[in-house]
Amino acid sequence: MPAPKSSHRRVFVTRPVADAALRRLAETARVDLWDDDAPPPHDELVAHLRECDAVLSMVSDRLDAGAIAAAPRLLAISNLAVGVDNIDLTAATRAGVAVGHTPGVLTETTADLAFALMLAAARRVAEGDRFVRAGRWRMWTPRLMLGRDVWGATLGVIGWGKIGQAVARRAGGFGMRVLYAAHPGAGAGTGAGFAAGANPAPVAKTRRRDGGTLPSGRTLSSGRPGSSGEVTAFGAPAARGAPSAERVELARLLAEADFISLNVPLTPQTRQLIGRRELAAMKRGAILVNTARGAVIDQAEMVEALRSGHLGGAGLDVTAIEPIDAADPLLKLPNVVITPHIGSASHATRLRMAELAVDNILDVFAGHLPRHCANPAVKLRVPRSKAPRAMGAKNKSAGP
Ligand code: DGY
Repeated sequence: MPAPKSSHRRVFVTRPVADAALRRLAETARVDLWDDDAPPPHDELVAHLRECDAVLSMVSDRLDAGAIAAAPRLLAISNLAVGVDNIDLTAATRAGVAVGHTPGVLTETTADLAFALMLAAARRVAEGDRFVRAGRWRMWTPRLMLGRDVWGATLGVIGWGKIGQAVARRAGGFGMRVLYAAHPGAGAGTGAGFAAGANPAPVAKTRRRDGGTLPSGRTLSSGRPGSSGEVTAFGAPAARGAPSAERVELARLLAEADFISLNVPLTPQTRQLIGRRELAAMKRGAILVNTARGAVIDQAEMVEALRSGHLGGAGLDVTAIEPIDAADPLLKLPNVVITPHIGSASHATRLRMAELAVDNILDVFAGHLPRHCANPAVKLRVPRSKAPRAMGAKNKSAGP
């Protein structure tokens, strides 16, 4: 990427991201692009950090205390993600380095994937696909690949941030009952009532004949002529009402939910939040969906729970170690659907994330905190070119 003549700023971009966003960044700074989808080796990353004023990083780049300490002119770390668990926030704050991230723009896209994984695990979509491709589909039979109903079931959302609420909104369209629990360490506001106004896209309701409500456009019939309209055909439970969500303690959520969606950031308080005890406390046959971070679950315990059948299935976009080893026992289990950390991976969302990551850097170059700052308590480091000490250093290197 060519350097603009007037700029003395350098930005290291650790992976190819949307060209349009990079071009905008290049109007202000010299952009050093790591032009490979594989991450730069850690020592290479540190070597680049030494030279740059900002880094546009990915969740798979480890920006630990050592890397930050080795970057004397670094002003900003701008992560192309909402999560910042790959960054030592304490070290960044202490060093005066602002950390930007990209919340908001990826909410709906990530919630889409959480729902896709839930449906796929419940209705054995990936397993069915493998079955057909293997030439094993011989005939239609009434017992082939029976799965679980998502509609009318109870969804438990753990973590009531933007993404958790967006998953809950989708559940409204499936007539699900929604329970939610704020995660340990969640700040104020994460327990706000969904039905009480936190839902930005309320679903219009139509009245059901038995007094219940259904998302509009949904028609129900009993399957038996002349009956009241209550859905009980084939033993299915009655569909539940339009989106509303009840805040409950984690223990109740685990005991009552048919599906559990994890939507928490990875912090010391949420690491292994779901371990042996929590898995045992889940309803037999429950399905666990994780689009947050793999380390939120004790993966070895989850494998045991899946093997025993206590956990009915899992839809995972994230794993404890990424990428997961091809020999990992998780990959041997038929009741698991795994995607390669693609929660926010739509064309439009990745473009928005790249634009926002660039905005965060430009904010810092303009002397402000990034518009989405993960360490707002940071006292921004004075850029070297403006600091008296930096002038001294410059003079020294320019001398004989
Ligand atoms: C995030 O935003 O934290 C995702 O995991 C990366 O898209």
